[in-house]
Amino acid sequence: MLVHIKELFPENGKNVIGKFAYPAFNTMNLETTLGIISAAEEMNTPVILETSEGAIKYAGLETLYEIMATLAVKAKVPIALHMDHGKNAEQLKRGIELGYSSVMIDHSGLSFEENVRDTKAMVEFAHNEGAWVQGEIGRMRGSEDWVSVSDEEALLTDPSEAKRFFEATGVDTLASSVGTIHGIIKMSGKVQAHVDIERIQKIREAVPNVPLVLHGASGVPDDVIEKAIQAGIAIINIDTELRIGFTHELRVFLASHPDEVDPRKYLNPAIEGVKQVAMKKLKSFKTQNLIKS
Ligand code: 13P
Repeated sequence: MLVHIKELFPENGKNVIGKFAYPAFNTMNLETTLGIISAAEEMNTPVILETSEGAIKYAGLETLYEIMATLAVKAKVPIALHMDHGKNAEQLKRGIELGYSSVMIDHSGLSFEENVRDTKAMVEFAHNEGAWVQGEIGRMRGSEDWVSVSDEEALLTDPSEAKRFFEATGVDTLASSVGTIHGIIKMSGKVQAHVDIERIQKIREAVPNVPLVLHGASGVPDDVIEKAIQAGIAIINIDTELRIGFTHELRVFLASHPDEVDPRKYLNPAIEGVKQVAMKKLKSFKTQNLIKS
């Protein structure tokens, strides 16, 4: 069933914080969406489906929204829709009007004052339409579609700045920079991600009433994820590992079926690849069997 993201977080997320984290899985096409929803149904848990600006550029805002919403309505578990890393305020507004219940405005690359100004304006628009807004404070390493920040520029989130940002903007969920890295780069082992658990704890103490979001979580080991959840992370974003699962299974299938030209045949293993990764993450984030019968 398609739900508003706020239904996953009654009482400012007190049901979640310190216990488990909802996954926010990125999708860009029908097959990835099918794999994610199939995993959520098998694990009996709600999930957040999210789309980046790159995914929207690839497939179109309306098309992607319709794919996700159509499948979410039919799903046996609650599914909430979120727009990830929006730089373009007009596109985020169109998404809200279409029916996304949550959008992320990411102006973390601007000055603190500009980030507050733009995020606050988005919160005013979104709340008027009944939608939630995620803001970001601090800057992350790596590249995720249009987000590209060099190591030198990377800026971990200062907990007192997170508090000032939250109080000035009224965001509903908050992304911060705590050492993780966006994208495939860290999977190559060329750069090391270090998750600053103490910093998460301090941010959590500074802003106790907002669900915290961990971006760039592909490749973060399960024991570190567990500590991040205990420290207060309530949503964990995963994109890269889903893409790897999709591509790996597709490659394996085509290598053993070099003459196959029917996408319906070779995309099924790719859907299964996404599903297997998503199920692993749901276990790691401790959300399996969240829905009580
Ligand atoms: P990964 O690239 O680590 O999967 O992170 C995805 C993400 O944070 C999307 O916002």
